Amino acid sequence: MTWNPDQYAKFAGPRLQPGLDLINRLPPHGPIEAVVDLGCGTGELTALLADRYPEASVAGLDSSISMLEKARGQFPDRVWVEGDIAQWRPERPVDLIYSNAALQWLPDHDRLMPALVDCLTKGGLLAVQMPRNFGAPSHSLMRDVASQPRFAGRTNLRSEPVADPGFYDALLSPLVDQIEVWEIEYWHRLTGDEPVYEWVKATGLRPVLEALTGDDREAFLSDYRERLLKAYPKRADGITLFPFRRLFLLAKR
Ligand SMILES: C[S@@+](CC[C@H](N)C(=O)[O-])C[C@H]1O[C@@H](n2cnc3c(N)ncnc32)[C@H](O)[C@@H]1O
Repeated sequence: MTWNPDQYAKFAGPRLQPGLDLINRLPPHGPIEAVVDLGCGTGELTALLADRYPEASVAGLDSSISMLEKARGQFPDRVWVEGDIAQWRPERPVDLIYSNAALQWLPDHDRLMPALVDCLTKGGLLAVQMPRNFGAPSHSLMRDVASQPRFAGRTNLRSEPVADPGFYDALLSPLVDQIEVWEIEYWHRLTGDEPVYEWVKATGLRPVLEALTGDDREAFLSDYRERLLKAYPKRADGITLFPFRRLFLLAKR
């Protein structure tokens, strides 16, 4: 699936905030030697992790060549690795696995999360943030339009890629010494004419954009955009509020 770093960067501030909040929650830790940022995208958070742990070897891993190219261009001194998170296994256990807004793209969290814990040193940290906004209009309206006969079965939209917080707590607490799971609903203040559409175009809408072409894509988008404008009206002061819930998970092996 292709990613467009420039479209993704349009909302860099609000998109990075949850990742920063997660970095700020990382507890003090003994020596950290190896850190990996899974699904590092364009690398801003990887670079911050490297600043935070200057003694550690810090690598950003992503499957998108275009995102990695931008990361390399912005931070040429850092280590960037092309790879699939599902296949990733470090040569040696690492002290911190960090992942912001990426693991929701992977299936089978019941297997994925324990496998990631397995890649940690004793005392190592797993720090994850994933959107859990799939019931919000930004996503449910997408599915509503996709379920129309013209598009049915063609768009590969998943309804709930991220489970509820209790699932992750129950899954991982037998495997780790400490775990904390929490959610935050961000109320992003967006500007522009169709900011929620612009936002999802870079992320959640990509399966639709890649599956549909020509008139089908146009018809889908015009219906979806009209619905979005009603669900997320622009205020008189030009602000559109976009509530966005995110799940955080911090575990210490
Ligand atoms: C929404 S972006 C987040 C980027 C970055 N972590 C940030 O917060 O700015 C999701 C990233 O996950 C990457 N990704 C999705 N599935 C992946 C997989 N299976 N393996 C590696 N990277 C993946 C995408 O290429 C994309 O760069």
